Amino acid sequence: MDSYPVKLFVISLMFHCSFQLLPLPDFIHPCHELTDECFTKATLDAIPGVVKGIPEAGIPTLDPLFIDKNISIELPGNLKMQFHNAKLVGLSTCVPNKVSSRREKRTFIFDMHCNFTIRGLYSLRGRLLLFNLDTEGAAKIKIWNQHIRLEVVEKVVLKDSGEGHYKINSYKYKADYGTDLKMNLTNLIRGNPEISANLLQVLNRDSQLFANEFGGPILDYAIDYAMNVTQRFFDAYTYDQLSPVPLTKDFFVKE
Ligand SMILES: *[C@@H]1O[C@H](CO)[C@@H](O)[C@H](O)[C@H]1NC(C)=O
Ligand SMILES: *[C@@H]1O[C@H](CO)[C@@H](O)[C@H](O)[C@H]1NC(C)=O
Ligand SMILES: *[C@@H]1O[C@H](CO)[C@@H](O)[C@H](O)[C@H]1NC(C)=O
Ligand SMILES: *[C@@H]1O[C@H](CO)[C@@H](O)[C@H](O)[C@H]1NC(C)=O
Repeated sequence: MDSYPVKLFVISLMFHCSFQLLPLPDFIHPCHELTDECFTKATLDAIPGVVKGIPEAGIPTLDPLFIDKNISIELPGNLKMQFHNAKLVGLSTCVPNKVSSRREKRTFIFDMHCNFTIRGLYSLRGRLLLFNLDTEGAAKIKIWNQHIRLEVVEKVVLKDSGEGHYKINSYKYKADYGTDLKMNLTNLIRGNPEISANLLQVLNRDSQLFANEFGGPILDYAIDYAMNVTQRFFDAYTYDQLSPVPLTKDFFVKE
C-alpha cells in the first residue's frame, strides 16, 4: 500500500490539532446551500441549544436572561418607571419565520417571533388617570407573539492563526409588540389592593399603548446581549466550521 495518503492524513491531522478547533456542537447545522430554507431550518435547530449556553465556548445561558442594569421608562402623562432586578424569560421560545442572507451586502436578516415574560421590581412616579403615584412593587409582563426583525451586518476577519472568523459589524432591529400583552404590577396604589387591581385592569385594557415603552428598553438590552453572545460564538468557531461554502479571498478582512 502506498503510504502517501496515510502521511497526508497524519500531516493534516497534525495541522488540524495545532489549531485546537473546538468541535461544533451537534445542534449547529451549517448550510451547504445558501438558501432561505436552509438558514431558517439551521436557525430553528440552533436556537434551543445556543440559548441553553455552550460552556466550552464561554457562552452563558440566555434563558432566563438577567438584566444587569436599571431600566428607566417614560410613560405617557409624565409617568416615570424604573425596573430593577429584572429577568427576561422566553428567548428559547423564539421561532424564526424566515432567515435570509444578502451575501453581497454581508447581511443576515432574522425574522422571528417569541413569547416573553418579564419579571422584576418596579418603582413608579407620576400621574396616572386620577392618581398621583409614588410607589413600588413587583412587576410581571407577558408578551405574546412579539415579532422581531433583526438585521445583522457581518464581515469575515482573518485571524493570526490563519483562520477566518465572522465578526458582527453592526445590527439593527425592529419589533412590534405582539398579539397580546398583560401586565401585573402589585401595589400600584400603596396599601390599597382593591383600587390597585382596578387600576391595573384599566391599564391592561390599553396595554398595547404601553407595550412599546415597556418592551423597547428591555428588548434593546436583550438583543445587545444576544449579539455579544453571538460574537463570542463566532470567536469560538471558525468561518470554515460554520460555512462550508468557500469564500473568495476579497471577502476576508485582516484584523
Ligand atoms: C437600581 O434601582 C434600585 C431601586 O431604585 C436601587 O436600589 C439601586 O441602587 C439601583 N442600581 C443602580 C445600579 O443604579
Ligand atoms: C406563544 O404562546 C401562544 C399561546 O400560548 C402559543 O400558541 C404560541 O405557539 C407561542 N409562540 C411561541 C413562539 O412560542
Ligand atoms: C398579580 O400578582 C399578584 C402577586 O403575585 C397576584 O396575587 C395577583 O392575583 C396577580 N393579578 C393578576 C391580575 O394576575
Ligand atoms: C455588549 O458588549 C459591549 C462591548 O463589550 C458592552 O459595552 C455592552 O455593555 C454589552 N451589552 C450587554 C447587554 O451586555
